Amino acid sequence: MNPIFKTTEKTINNYKKGGQASVYQGDYIGLIKKLPDDSVDLIFSSPPYCIGKAYESTNKLSDFIFSHEIIFKELVRVLKPGGSLCWQVGMHVKDGVSTPLDSLVYAESIKHFELKLRNRIIWTFGHGLHCHNRFSGRHETIMWFTKGNDYDFNLDAVRVKQKYPGKTSSKGIKKGQPSGNPLGKNPGDVWNIPNVKANHIEKTNHPCQFPVALPQIFIRALVPENGLVFDPFSGSGTTAVASLIENKYFIGSELCNEYNQIAHERILSTLEGLPKARPWNKEVATPNIKSKVATAPEGYGQPENIMDNLVQSLSSSFQT
Ligand SMILES: C[S@@+](CC[C@H](N)C(=O)[O-])C[C@H]1O[C@@H](n2cnc3c(N)ncnc32)[C@H](O)[C@@H]1O
Repeated sequence: MNPIFKTTEKTINNYKKGGQASVYQGDYIGLIKKLPDDSVDLIFSSPPYCIGKAYESTNKLSDFIFSHEIIFKELVRVLKPGGSLCWQVGMHVKDGVSTPLDSLVYAESIKHFELKLRNRIIWTFGHGLHCHNRFSGRHETIMWFTKGNDYDFNLDAVRVKQKYPGKTSSKGIKKGQPSGNPLGKNPGDVWNIPNVKANHIEKTNHPCQFPVALPQIFIRALVPENGLVFDPFSGSGTTAVASLIENKYFIGSELCNEYNQIAHERILSTLEGLPKARPWNKEVATPNIKSKVATAPEGYGQPENIMDNLVQSLSSSFQT
């Protein structure tokens, strides 16, 4: 058993069959204060954006900044040297004015000399709210920091299919041989993964789930065998599901009982070998151009496809 569970097991739900996950019901502070220094391999989370969602008591940007001053100190403390902190955020929009929350996260991170930014991943998705007075938001970001400079990164575990695997080198000692890596290409820092809406296989009653694939890619690349993943705002348990699929330990906290119930069910079905999760490397479907919904009704004006081409080139950057 991971020693952490011994310190916390009286206060949380433990799931011990197969993999191992624990979820604390309550404010994250209650859990994080119990976690020892240097004990977590990966922290992956999406905090409240302070935009007045059902589970938020505030829509003030100043509250986002203040809450991060408190939590980052604790996150850095519990993270192992060489461990990773991945913080998933979007935009704070109030009265039509947008603030990229990752800029505030970065501003907080530089107060902690141990944190080193490795990537700012753009998570892009094809659907979302339709705006009328600005461009519709179709991406969020994940800020990946490591604690210190000495860290493991298993790139091979997350390589994706080469676009042109038959391409060969034209000169040098490798002339005539395939020029790309036979294990696949680096997925880059723009990931096209459908967001969890409507008919998505992972959809629950939580209003702001992220897809299992997001934490899963980081877990595959960054968490060692028997490693521990921590999500202080675990919501519907998405990071727990990803951790268990990847056979890692998980610990999380969630304030809302209803969301914890959802997490409970998702964790149990994952441990039973029946996770509801879209595979991390599944290609994003392109619409069947002959289908009825893809065909414009007569007299219906359609713009030239310039923007479609742009979106298409983004989606090809992350596929099987
Ligand atoms: C953006 S959502 C996370 C959703 C999650 N990633 C998922 O896929 O389901 C943020 C979550 O933080 C929870 N929360 C807000 N304040 C909290 C606190 N102080 N301690 C623990 N959880 C909190 C909310 O109830 C909400 O479920």
